[in-house]
Amino acid sequence: MSRSYGGRPVPSGPPGWSMSCSNWAARSASSAWNSPVRLPNRRKTVPLPTPAAAATRSSETCSAPQVVSSSSVARRIARRLRAASARSALTSVTARPCGVVSGPGVLIVSAAEPDHQSDCLEELAMSAVRALLVDPEAPRSLRFGEIPEPEPGPGEALVEVRHASMNYGELRWALHRPIGAVLGYDVAGVVLRGAADGSGPAPGARVVAFSNGTWAERVAVATDALAEVPDAVPLADAAALPVVGITALRTLRAAGGVLGKRVLITGASGGVGRAAIQLARRGGAYVIASVGAAARGEGLKELGADEVVIGLDTVDRPVDVVLENVGGPHLVASWNLLAPGGTIQQIGWAAHDQPAVFPPNSIYSPGPAKSLHSFSDMSHPGPDLAVLVSLAARGELSAEVGWRGSWERVEEAVDALLGRRIPGKAVLDIAPEGR
Ligand SMILES: NC(=O)c1ccc[n+]([C@@H]2O[C@H](COP(=O)([O-])OP(=O)(O)OC[C@H]3O[C@@H](n4cnc5c(N)ncnc54)[C@H](OP(=O)(O)O)[C@@H]3O)[C@@H](O)[C@H]2O)c1
Repeated sequence: MSRSYGGRPVPSGPPGWSMSCSNWAARSASSAWNSPVRLPNRRKTVPLPTPAAAATRSSETCSAPQVVSSSSVARRIARRLRAASARSALTSVTARPCGVVSGPGVLIVSAAEPDHQSDCLEELAMSAVRALLVDPEAPRSLRFGEIPEPEPGPGEALVEVRHASMNYGELRWALHRPIGAVLGYDVAGVVLRGAADGSGPAPGARVVAFSNGTWAERVAVATDALAEVPDAVPLADAAALPVVGITALRTLRAAGGVLGKRVLITGASGGVGRAAIQLARRGGAYVIASVGAAARGEGLKELGADEVVIGLDTVDRPVDVVLENVGGPHLVASWNLLAPGGTIQQIGWAAHDQPAVFPPNSIYSPGPAKSLHSFSDMSHPGPDLAVLVSLAARGELSAEVGWRGSWERVEEAVDALLGRRIPGKAVLDIAPEGR
């Protein structure tokens, strides 16, 4: 027997779990996979995982489905895994329809009623979603794995992911996320199922969203976190916009009107920088783009920069606003360049291991106060996403995709992004574009 889910074959015989998954479910399951419609009733013979075994279960140890023929046994296994999960943070377990219980690397089908067994196995075939998961043992701390089918809440749409883009922060901080977490915030795709509460777009709509865990085939997205994508904007371009576009838009707003002001953008060759150059220019600013090397400045004048500088030493007059993406010595130098009354919007710290050292009294500034603002507000992103894609549709904002490829090439993209070799954004193709 062979079925497919997400374009991949479902194992037709006893799957590879016998190698590493524990015996507690394998004993019950091996015959079930050979004959899924007539699961033997092994209610009495399915051993539960011991608490210790459950606590050490990780996404590594149990990557294939577990099938048990009793819903009560499945519930007890799930309870134990949940308790282990709460203690170890290795496995999260969620109850699913049709008696399926699952978590990263753990999937249990409970088919108590013989009549429902084949339905449950069909659902199992559809219930795994391929995703990129955090794994400290894997190259770049990422590996492909499977997660349960997302279950949208009442105000969430189910989206088939076509493209997701990568951001510096999520790569740099991947190892600080729990094992098995799905990375990614930016996504563009097509609505498969509209939100149950009637909010948001209908099935078939092309959408862009800011969400959590978007490097997966399907995601559930809150309807206030997405926007419909105009036909003129390719979904791959839309996927490049959420994090960097919202960051640039909101920090420029926070800086107040920039009409006629001198705006300095550090790390200007990156994703945030390229969006910020374009938006600041649209706002009427005089834009100074700072990059690390001459080659990194290519194309920035065409985007709207009035000046492109290498580092900050050659900025010869005070600036009113700084969008600061680099941190470390760039932050100190930016403060020194700031005119009285000016503001720094501190966005990022791409110079990740370099401290910012302010000499004694160097914060002192006569006249109107200078200010330093943090930024981390991605709440209710839908309306701003709509602004960004409408600007893109009118040709007034370029998505600046500097690398695009299949998500199978994710390691290459990670290396290029962290190696400062990508002019702008890296976009992963997760499913064919379609339209
Ligand atoms: N606070 C928030 O909510 C928020 C939102 C978005 C982004 N961020 C942060 O903002 C920063 C920029 O994000 P991004 O998406 O634009 O990243 P990006 O595309 O990787 O661009 C970062 C830029 O910083 C420069 N850079 C990298 N390492 C550097 C180093 N060691 N020293 C000096 N410059 C360096 C590079 O420019 P050159 O190669 O030209 O030097 C690079 O183009 C990141 O730190 C990110 O985590 C924060």
